[in-house]
Amino acid sequence: MGDESIKILGLSGEYRSTSKSGMLVNAALSIAESKGAEVVFWDLAEKPLPLVGEEGCWNHPHVKEFQTLLEETQAFFLASPEYHGTMSGVMKNTMDWMYDKHVGGKVFGLMSTLGGVTNANTLNHMRIALRWLHGWPVPEQLAIGHVKEAFDDNGNLVDPSLQERLENLVDAVLAASKKLSA
Ligand SMILES: Cc1cc2nc3c(=O)[nH]c(=O)nc-3n(C[C@H](O)[C@H](O)[C@H](O)COP(=O)(O)O)c2cc1C
Repeated sequence: MGDESIKILGLSGEYRSTSKSGMLVNAALSIAESKGAEVVFWDLAEKPLPLVGEEGCWNHPHVKEFQTLLEETQAFFLASPEYHGTMSGVMKNTMDWMYDKHVGGKVFGLMSTLGGVTNANTLNHMRIALRWLHGWPVPEQLAIGHVKEAFDDNGNLVDPSLQERLENLVDAVLAASKKLSA
């Protein structure tokens, strides 16, 4: 399978593509697209997913559409803000709509944005949750601390070493997807 046939879904633990996690996941998607992947960003501002368990959630049209898209997708980029030392509730709720039957055996690239100092808590917590979904997160990962200063006005990462890490993460996801589908 060539890169051109890999479909990648980007998910953010914040609403909107203009949030810092939205910007980061879209930066990853655009690198993947430049390398031939088909990319989709699910914007929760346009298509919110209900809270798991709330009235009417099980038959919600967005949930059905989301889970169908998961099934059609070979790989995922996830970017969550760190909230109180872990992933946002929005990211956890998004993951709670994923099941093994949708994402098991598929590749994940993990990213995190932080208002404060860089750490890997959120990345580690997402990695643990993915184990229950039988997802395959690649070892490469990216956390961006002091995220308010991380992007320029065009949405590009200011620090070239972070940009390089992002490109390495995307390459790792593409390579792993290719190996797993061979
Ligand atoms: C409820 C809440 C909790 C937060 N907790 C942390 C935290 O534990 N560590 C940290 O570095 N930043 C924390 N932040 C800052 C977010 O990580 C930061 O807002 C996020 O990465 C996205 O940036 P943006 O809001 O400019 O899009 C918190 C923000 C909120 C709203």
